[in-house]
Amino acid sequence: MTVTSARRVDPIAADAVGNSATEAFVQAFGYRPTGVWSAPGRANLIGEHIDYAGGTVLPFALPYVTAAAVSVRADGVVRCVSTHEEQGWEGPVDQVAPGHPTGWASYVAGVLWVLATRGLLSAGVGFDIAIASSVPIGSGLSSSAALECSVALAVAELTGLPTTEPEDRLQLVTAAIRAENEIAGASTGGMDQSVSMLARSGSALLLDCRTFAHSHIPLDPARSGAALMLIDSNTPHQLVGSAYTDRRADIDTAAERLGVASLRSVRDVDAALARLAADGGERLARRARHVLSEMRRVELAVEAMQTDNLRLVGELLSASHASLRDDYEVSTSALDAIVAAALDGGAWGARMIGGGFGGCALVLCAADREEIIAAAVAQTLAAAEHPTPSVYVASPGPPARRLQ
Ligand code: GLA
Repeated sequence: MTVTSARRVDPIAADAVGNSATEAFVQAFGYRPTGVWSAPGRANLIGEHIDYAGGTVLPFALPYVTAAAVSVRADGVVRCVSTHEEQGWEGPVDQVAPGHPTGWASYVAGVLWVLATRGLLSAGVGFDIAIASSVPIGSGLSSSAALECSVALAVAELTGLPTTEPEDRLQLVTAAIRAENEIAGASTGGMDQSVSMLARSGSALLLDCRTFAHSHIPLDPARSGAALMLIDSNTPHQLVGSAYTDRRADIDTAAERLGVASLRSVRDVDAALARLAADGGERLARRARHVLSEMRRVELAVEAMQTDNLRLVGELLSASHASLRDDYEVSTSALDAIVAAALDGGAWGARMIGGGFGGCALVLCAADREEIIAAAVAQTLAAAEHPTPSVYVASPGPPARRLQ
């Protein structure tokens, strides 16, 4: 019998990612950057597909980061390169617009466009930017938010915008969200940019997506003899596509039919679901049931974390997965197989995270089950002829910051 094991991808130290960005900068532009900034990818403990419904979410920053090496130019031009991409992009800041540029550079240029539109960049200012990253792309760990936030923080600090207070960072969060929604054309909800900018090491970010009010909930599974594992199905995940937008549209329609600004405002859940179903909206009722039940699971998870009841947190993760799979229909057979194999292997709970349709699952287990579960998952996926999974470190890391 061949033994299949998951591929472990340990994080590269942020400083080393920063050094790669600096090298790429020197190679592309022939001089040293003024500074290097980093921003992390994220995982979400619980609160999935509810940020755009005004829900409260509980993500944390990962030790995988994107680094931006940046200098200011005086001619209104932006030039950007990335170690991941063959094609760089170059153009005047004032010609960035929805749909221009496209591809990875839209996340970079989009941030500049928003800041310029808000009058926060002086006319004629431009930038040289080189990107390096250890955030896996297409794994649902928010490589795009990490890219936007590293650039936003770099540009803000280089042009003298304040960045130290949470309110300052929230300005950059909203710039990154608009860049993604309006320039890159992905109608994502804002959780990813918020946690990339506002996270705290050793904590999850409890973020109310209606008001952006937030607090930090200690998340240190090792202290309780537990482990969090991120298992990548290695099946591609794309948000600039229709399925994510369709889910969001369903939730907007459900809110409209119920006459509320967002599903967060629903008080009587049973009555709301009955009303949606009676209107002939069986699908809408299921979509809303995911969102409303997930909002409740977040509250219960926070209570469970406060009493260190990680087994209960695990049960809530598994319930979240079932809801995302059955009611929201954003899981895949590979993600379902990871979750089932992890639970069979003794995990306390597991679920797909992020937008879905591929990407990663998060597993909560006793620390001494980690290896056994990773092996069981790899065997199950191999038997079903799914790609070999990767395992990432899921310890809560720091937010966007200056590295050099
Ligand atoms: C993606 C989006 C987020 C959020 C999640 C699902 O990561 O970028 O805004 O909607 O999906 O919770």
